[in-house]
Amino acid sequence: MAVTKDEVLRRLSEVKSPDGVPLPATGTLSDVVVSDGKVFFSISVDAATVRSWEGVRKAAEAAVKALPGVVSALVALTAERAGGAGGAGGAASGNGAGRQAPAAAAAGPRTAAPSVAPAAVKSIIAVASGKGGVGKSTTAVNLALGLLGLGLKVGLLDADIYGPSVPRLLGIKGRPETTGGNRLQPMTGYGLEVMSIGFLVEEETPMIWRGPMVMSALTQMLRDVDWGALDVMVVDMPPGTGDAQLTMAQQVPLKGAIIVSTPQDLALIDARRGIAMFRRVNVPVLGIVENMSYFVCPQCGTRSDIFGHGGARHEAERLGVRFLGEVPLAMTIRETSDAGRPVVATAPGGPHAAVYRDIAAKVWAELGGGPARPAPRIVIEA
Ligand SMILES: Nc1ncnc2c1ncn2[C@@H]1O[C@H](COP(=O)(O)OP(=O)(O)OP(=O)(O)O)[C@@H](O)[C@H]1O
Ligand SMILES: [Mg+2]
Repeated sequence: MAVTKDEVLRRLSEVKSPDGVPLPATGTLSDVVVSDGKVFFSISVDAATVRSWEGVRKAAEAAVKALPGVVSALVALTAERAGGAGGAGGAASGNGAGRQAPAAAAAGPRTAAPSVAPAAVKSIIAVASGKGGVGKSTTAVNLALGLLGLGLKVGLLDADIYGPSVPRLLGIKGRPETTGGNRLQPMTGYGLEVMSIGFLVEEETPMIWRGPMVMSALTQMLRDVDWGALDVMVVDMPPGTGDAQLTMAQQVPLKGAIIVSTPQDLALIDARRGIAMFRRVNVPVLGIVENMSYFVCPQCGTRSDIFGHGGARHEAERLGVRFLGEVPLAMTIRETSDAGRPVVATAPGGPHAAVYRDIAAKVWAELGGGPARPAPRIVIEA
């Protein structure tokens, strides 16, 4: 029997705030989302009182979990800072596409936030862009596979909780296993450890998340997943420069960010915004990838610079950021992505895989990585 939001709220009224007030009456609760037996919500309190609320958070989670029909409960405790600390918030992304911009909740200097990085992960890098649809996820997946090809242990975290695409891009189906109550095992695809909200929520479920819930979903995917000892974790970011990005940048010790841009000027304006955001929160920008950079006619081999090629390279130079490479607009890249058979894994001998491997090697060098240990190449027929 599916549990309802009202049942959850009724149960929560048995949980009291540190002052003895029933939780739903405290004004600290976010919207309660119930999906497929999974319950998510957050408690937002003043940063000064946050310690006294941890017990309340635990009690709320336990109370909800005990309800019949509840498969899992995730309650995040978030501290709201009074006033506009941080100064980096509010830069709404130019991308619309029906995605909700979460309410601001992640302000504050990066150093003040508790780190949620898994201890065994050496470097976490974000693949981001100012605007949607420029090929972040495609780049993140193939970059991760390129890093794997260098002999590294690599994880891929899909931080796009509004539109998770990593399960589809890697052709991974099914749900992660849980161990020890609340620990999730990462999924695996083509040798990568992978986690995405797409494994936890039905694809048709409308993703309406509030700011604090964005954070709690991200922190859960970092903290409550049994990530192995990874050399690099690649994070596929949602588009834009809103709160999800800020949260990542503030709470996760990112070693760096890679900005994906198409060559058009408009996209570059967004790319600049992305770069500025990471710089504001002191995350080094490792470089720019120009995606859909040029088109090579599969029939005649003629190259066409359909979008005015080279913009990202010039922009990178101007901004003093490394230019990591140009990925052509190619039907193979698109088709392999859509089929869940990413080009670096399924056509490793082809020109497109070579482009991504080259980008991966540059990224690894930017991370100060040692010499690459090329792994034996596993060829999977496309
Ligand atoms: N180099 C490329 N050549 C051909 N098609 C590409 C290329 N890069 C990405 N695509 C295609 O463009 C579309 C958008 O790519 P992708 O999903 O990676 O973008 P995104 O920036 O992650 O989007 P979103 O902002 O929605 O998360 C996909 O259909 C993908 O297959
Ligand atoms: Mg994406």
